[in-house]
Amino acid sequence: MRMKGKSPCESNAILADLMMPSQANGLRAPSIFGGVVMSMVDKCAALSAMKHCSGQATTLSVERILFKEPIMVGELVEIRSHVAHVGRTSMSVVADVYAEDLRTGNRRHTNACWLTFVHLGDDGKPAPVPPLLLETEEDHRLHKVAAVMRERQLAERQTKR
Ligand SMILES: CC(C)(COP(=O)(O)OP(=O)(O)OC[C@H]1O[C@@H](n2cnc3c(N)ncnc32)[C@H](O)[C@@H]1OP(=O)(O)O)[C@@H](O)C(=O)NCCC(=O)NCCS
Repeated sequence: MRMKGKSPCESNAILADLMMPSQANGLRAPSIFGGVVMSMVDKCAALSAMKHCSGQATTLSVERILFKEPIMVGELVEIRSHVAHVGRTSMSVVADVYAEDLRTGNRRHTNACWLTFVHLGDDGKPAPVPPLLLETEEDHRLHKVAAVMRERQLAERQTKR
């Protein structure tokens, strides 16, 4: 039986946290350690993948985590993600990170990220995911970006085997 499709917005996920001194790096002007942001991005993107496949998903790859601006201790970090492309068992997720200075309300887009997850069935093996029903122009734009990244990855997989 064919699985019912889902729109990208059905996998919308949000993760927010206040950045603490213990999460800072060792720079002279400390900002938040990149690994903290990466872990939050992975968790939020995994939530999107799990929402799309209604089950468990494992991280296959991180195509991109761009650190555009540092995030400071005391700022509120918010991550927003959703599935942008699906293969048979894999899902490409786009995630954006925003940092907000709570004193001024100034909100910045600090990170742009792409990750790929694989849906695992109850037997722990890759399992098919629902088709993605693109709705908006932005859905189509992100789908194209993800399709290019997926082709590149698949080509690399062939050459590295
Ligand atoms: C993810 C994992 C289950 C895939 O296993 P696998 O034996 O490669 O499975 P498959 O060959 O069936 O591939 C599954 C999907 O991943 C994609 N894939 C697997 N390896 C890939 C690679 N090197 N490059 C690009 N895509 C790849 C396949 O194209 C397929 O997607 P599709 O069905 O949409 O086309 C396995 O690599 C794994 O367990 N990795 C460790 C995951 C992990 O520990 N993550 C961190 C903790 S969450």
